[in-house]
Amino acid sequence: MTQRTSRPVQLAPSILSADWTRLAEQIGDAEAAGVDWISLDVMDGNFVPPITFGAQMASAVRSLTNLPIEAHLMVGRPEEQLEAFIAAGVNCITIHIESTRHPHRLLQQISEAGVEAGVTLNPGTPLSEIEAVAPICDRIQIMSVNPGWGGQQFIPESLSRIRQARTMLDACGREDADVAVDGGVNESTISSIVEAGANWLVAGSAVFNDRESVADAVARLRRALPAS
Ligand code: DX5
Repeated sequence: MTQRTSRPVQLAPSILSADWTRLAEQIGDAEAAGVDWISLDVMDGNFVPPITFGAQMASAVRSLTNLPIEAHLMVGRPEEQLEAFIAAGVNCITIHIESTRHPHRLLQQISEAGVEAGVTLNPGTPLSEIEAVAPICDRIQIMSVNPGWGGQQFIPESLSRIRQARTMLDACGREDADVAVDGGVNESTISSIVEAGANWLVAGSAVFNDRESVADAVARLRRALPAS
């Protein structure tokens, strides 16, 4: 069932799968390839097993690109991170609904700082958990893999969750907000993801890999998009 939104599709490569030994070059290649955002997968070894990086990496990436930057906080206590990531100059902060007792307050704080506010939820979390905060979100992000690692398989049940998220935002008057998808976005899944109603796509291993250049990878994804 097509639920496609009229909102422009935006591509947000995650540096999780980039070659960190040449991050400036990889981000520069992504920018030159015409991506729309850079996504940072912040992991603390608590909310998810791996540890990646903190706000210092956000500051470094801020110095490397003019693209808007999104910080996806896969951390146990996001309230302790907001100030540092806002100071680092990120343009969006996405928090997990499972990671805090006060999601509404955190999302308000993010918005009051002039930063886009995103909420995301693990594949096992019912969408009803985010209903109360949907009206104050600029983005609902559907995790289409269990968070923590790149290169995983897209969970097909995510398609109905994408449709539900689009319906939820439209029902509360947030037609202006995005439905994002994170995990397993690649040339074979991107069309059904967009047809289901998503317009903001995180892609890590489909953009940064050793099979092709970043430019070729981005072009491949763009070609796989459904005809507008
Ligand atoms: C959580 C991370 C990954 C990453 C995307 O695990 O958020 O989902 O951004 O990784 P790919 O695009 O390689 O599935």
